Amino acid sequence: MNLITIDGPSASGKGTISALVAKKLGWAILDSGALYRISAYAVQTKGINPEDEGAVAAVVSDLDIQFKTSEVFVDGVEVSDILRLESTGKMASKIATYPTLRQALLDRQRNFIHGVAGLVADGRDMGTVVFPQAPLKIFLVADVNERANRRYKQLVDKGIEANFDEILVDLKRRDEQDMNRAVAPLKPAEDAVVIDSSYMGIQEVVEAILGAWADCIK
Ligand code: DC
Repeated sequence: MNLITIDGPSASGKGTISALVAKKLGWAILDSGALYRISAYAVQTKGINPEDEGAVAAVVSDLDIQFKTSEVFVDGVEVSDILRLESTGKMASKIATYPTLRQALLDRQRNFIHGVAGLVADGRDMGTVVFPQAPLKIFLVADVNERANRRYKQLVDKGIEANFDEILVDLKRRDEQDMNRAVAPLKPAEDAVVIDSSYMGIQEVVEAILGAWADCIK
């Protein structure tokens, strides 16, 4: 089965790395974080009370979600920029603690494996819950200061005003929430390959994953 899962904390470079690995192998991508962000967007725009777990899970079940290259459409509306907002990410991390929402998104995620040459699935629980059968599971870690630094540079490069200390506090809070929730917490699968990318370049990490895949299919 052509499937690699890449899990790890916020700003660990998962998105960029997954895209490069998928491109190299000619495979599709599942950006599962986008599904949680889409859920957050729906809660925010449809006037759903984010504290009401049942209502949050229900709104997601009916959404028409289309991924088209770099764009995401929800009920026909292009939402890519909204999904990237910090406020959307914060809400996503909050509602991702709801077991009924996670359950509602499970089949949508598993469907990505059908009809593709292969799949790189990126998220927090790809190797532990969604695709436990994956032949290669990567757990990407990086020092929180280094991740804050990368995010800070990313924002400044885009001309967006950023405060390093705020980013650091925010990442720590997000890690805490993602790692300590009762259902599908962020943690490596028992058979995951852990890569610490704190002092590695993107290309180096990509090569390490491609090397691990080559070993896996030998
Ligand atoms: O990877 P991301 O920053 O786009 O994810 C946004 C939030 O969604 C993250 O804080 C936790 C949640 N998430 C999750 O719980 N499980 C996943 N597989 C992916 C994301």
